[in-house]
Order: sequence, then structure tokens, then C-alpha cells
Amino acid sequence: MLNASGESFAKIILIGEHAVVYGQPAIALPVKTIRLTATITPRTDGQQLITSTFYRGSLQAAATSAFAGIAHLLRALLTFFGARQQGFDLKITSALPPERGMGSSAATATAVVRAMYQAFATPLAHATLLRWTAISEKLLHGNPSGLDAATTSATRPQWFVRNQAPHAIAFPTNGSLVIADTGIPGQTKAAVAAVASRLQQAPATNQPRLAAIGQAVRQAALALAADDLVKLGAQLNTAQTQLAALGVSTPALDRLIQAARTAGALGAKLTGSGLGGCMIALATDHTAAETIAQALTQAGATAVWQYDFVQSEEQQ
Ligand code: MEV
Repeated sequence: MLNASGESFAKIILIGEHAVVYGQPAIALPVKTIRLTATITPRTDGQQLITSTFYRGSLQAAATSAFAGIAHLLRALLTFFGARQQGFDLKITSALPPERGMGSSAATATAVVRAMYQAFATPLAHATLLRWTAISEKLLHGNPSGLDAATTSATRPQWFVRNQAPHAIAFPTNGSLVIADTGIPGQTKAAVAAVASRLQQAPATNQPRLAAIGQAVRQAALALAADDLVKLGAQLNTAQTQLAALGVSTPALDRLIQAARTAGALGAKLTGSGLGGCMIALATDHTAAETIAQALTQAGATAVWQYDFVQSEEQQ
């Protein structure tokens, strides 16, 4: 084993969450200014130690912690490399807020897989990386579409359809997103399960909601290609209406979404699984986004980030 490190980014779903689990397309973007790094240092005493914000201790004891998904992934990787007894220190440093719909678990898995492949001097194809990250995501979320891992491992905005290779999608260079945190942890597993149960109980009402989100995603792609931010904003609002009808918005998310619209956002919606976590608002430019960010802070957002679309073009 060699000294090694792997990196990944926060992800923001622009549009398409939940419907993407059922085969509809989604558009998501890596936020390269919010990073996560996994560093592996070999140990000669055989101890396998992990240091992260969620968990600090041995790999063995991690099996019953909030780190269980990543621990399971790590054991699978060690088995793959024929190194179950190899001692190491794994350190994860992250600027991503956990459980806020920014892909913290997928970003951790991405960086860990990258670091492990580097530690065993093995080239890593992107499709292989996505197969590995699905292991921990499945354990954590039950039925992940793969969108989070595809985005946390990308450097450009992604057009994603489940079980298909993701590909980059171009963004206009004007336009800006405000991302705001309700301060309440999102609940991916519960939110995905809640939508599944609604679909089972009332398919005739809820299938069209997923189809409407898919349609809004396709319209959003056309709006992005045409630099039409007003149309893009309208699609974000449509998706939010459907997500609220599916039961994954909350009063805290609704309050921030309303505050952003009142402050001039072209559109606003929750991002990620909902039931807490973050929302996004679309602004015409950086200055308009600053005004919206201030309004969101006044409305109770615990953290606010700005993402100018021009960043999507920048190399990391
Ligand atoms: C969670 O970030 C996104 C969801 O669509 C679930 C998934 O795609 O696996 C809610």
C-alpha cells in the first residue's frame, strides 16, 4: 500500500430529484469550491483507523456506526485488493455539510474509492468507480439512482439517466444559483421511501407527478441550451410544485423558497431528497443572487452559498 489521496466535490441537483429514481432524467452540478478529500497512510501495526467528522475509530467498530456504509465499502475494497489485514490511517476532510442534500455520502465514497485505487497503484475507470460507490449508497439509501455519485465524481454539470452513462451538459455563462440550508438534516432514505409508498398507494395520482418532473427536466435542458433563464426558472418552480405534492418539501423549505421568490428569484425549489436539507434559487446574475442570499439569511437560512454558472466552465 502507498500513501494516497482521493478527491470529490459537493453536488447540487438542479432539477429531477426523486423522478430520477424512476427512470426520468435529471440535471446536477458538482460544486468544485466545496471539496472532500480522503487521505490514506499505510500503518505497519495492522490497525485500520478512520478519522472523519461522522466517525473516529477502528474500521471494525464502524460497522455499527453512521459510517457503516463507507465501512462496508472499505472492507469490499480491501478484499478486492487482497489486503484485508493491511493497516492504515484513513483521514476524511470535508467542507460539505452532512445530510443536507449536497451528496456528502456519495462524495465520501467517491474520494475513498479513488484513494484506495491510488494506494494500490491501480488505474480506475469512471464506470468502475460508479459501481463501487453504489455499494455504500445502496446500504445508506436503499434505492439510489446513482445521480449523487455521478455528480460528486464529475467536474462538469451532468445530464443523468439511471443505468446509462452520465454525460456533461453545457450551462450558460450568465445566471447564478443561491444554495441555502434550512439547518435541518435531510432524510434521503426516508424521503425516497415516502415517495415509493405514495406511488404504491396511489399510482394514478403520483405517476403523472414524476412524469411532470421529467418533462420539466427536458424543458430545463432546452432552456439551458438557449440561455433562457426565465424559462429555466419556471421549470424549477414546476418541479417544486410536484415535489411538494409528492410530500418531500417541508415548512422550512417552503419558507426559504417563498423568500427567494419574493426577493426576485426566477425560480426556486428544494434540492436533494428534501424532508430538510437545502433549497436553490435561480438569479439572473451575481448581484441579483447576492440580494436573494441576504433575503434567505433573513428568512432563517443557516448557511448560504453562491454558484455563478460561469464556474461550471472553470477547470478545478
Ligand atoms: C438524492 O440526492 C436524490 C434522490 O433523487 C435519490 C437518488 O437519486 O438516489 C432523492
